[in-house]
Formats: sequence, structure tokens, C-alpha cells
Amino acid sequence: MRPSTLLLVAVGLSAACGGEPRAPQAQAPVDSTPLAQAAYDPAMFDTISWPTLEAALERGQVVYRYSCMKCHGETGLGDAGFVRAGDTLRPPSFRDPDWRFANDKAGLREQVFVGTAEGMPHWGLVGLAPRDVDAVAVYILEGMRKR
Ligand code: HEC
Repeated sequence: MRPSTLLLVAVGLSAACGGEPRAPQAQAPVDSTPLAQAAYDPAMFDTISWPTLEAALERGQVVYRYSCMKCHGETGLGDAGFVRAGDTLRPPSFRDPDWRFANDKAGLREQVFVGTAEGMPHWGLVGLAPRDVDAVAVYILEGMRKR
């Protein structure tokens, strides 16, 4: 193999393992939220760990920008103004001091996995691996809210 071919193979491999999240899927229909609830098992997060907080934050930011920002806004204020079926979605701010998930990472991960019937797509059945759900939860709690 010529050196240039080797280089191409190496670049291809690193791209394949590079871990960019998949592009967000088409929004899951809200009536599949009960299916996501049925599939939810908090134990799926038990084996997830991060070498450093920074590593989780970095990954979580990528996930957030791909999958959440268009509705929740760049800084989590719920101000992105995403329009769906003629309705402008105004999700709650993640930044309120007494936000209901402020001290509830497990609840936050479950909400992201399961979605809601009111316009929050679920990410558990399609879209995000548990590791990325965990990363985005760390990003919201330790990045957006604290930095
Ligand atoms: C299509 C728009 C949309 C996208 C994309 C989206 N959300 Fe939401 N999200 C909403 C809406 C609308 C609500 C409010 C739902 C409700 O009132 O039940 C919400 C609610 C939430 C809540 C509950 C907030 C609370 O205070 O109760 C969390 C947590 C959340 N979203 C996290 C995320 C994360 C993390 C992502 C990315 C993985 C994401 N959302 C992607 C629209 C979206």
C-alpha cells in the first residue's frame, strides 16, 4: 500500500470512531412517549463514567448543539423560537435558580429519554445513546447552570 493510501485509511478510521453524535432524527411522534417510558431503565446509566468533568461537558455541548438548541436556545433559556405545526415552542428555562431538575440528574436524564406529551421529543428510543443523554445532562447541570 502506498503511504498516501495508508493515510486515507487512517483518516477514515478515525472519522468512524470520532464519536460525533448522529444527526438528530426526525422528531419522534409524541404518542410514542409511553413506549419510551416503558423502555426506560435507570440502570442503563450505571456503567457510564467520564475520565474528567471536562470530557463530559465537551461531549454534552456537542449533543446539545445538535439536538436541543433549536428549541431550548443556545444558553438554555427556552428562547429559540422553534416553530412546529404553526406553534412556536417555548420550553421552560433550564437556568431558573429553583429549576425542578436543578439537583436531580437522574430525573433530568429520564425526562430527556422519555420526552413529554407537550412538545418535548423523546430521545431514548431513537436519537441518543445513554452516554449522550448522560453527557447532555452534565452539560445542562454543570455547564449551563454553573458557568
Ligand atoms: C422540538 C423541540 C425540542 C427539542 C429538539 C428538545 N426539546 Fe426539550 N422540551 C421541548 C418543549 C416544548 C418542552 C416543554 C414540554 C412540556 O411542557 O411538557 C421541553 C422540555 C424539556 C425538559 C423539561 C424541562 C422542565 O423544566 O420541565 C427537559 C429537561 C428538556 N426538554 C431537555 C431537552 C434536551 C436535553 C434536549 C436535547 C437532547 C431537548 N430537550 C430537545 C422542546 C424540545
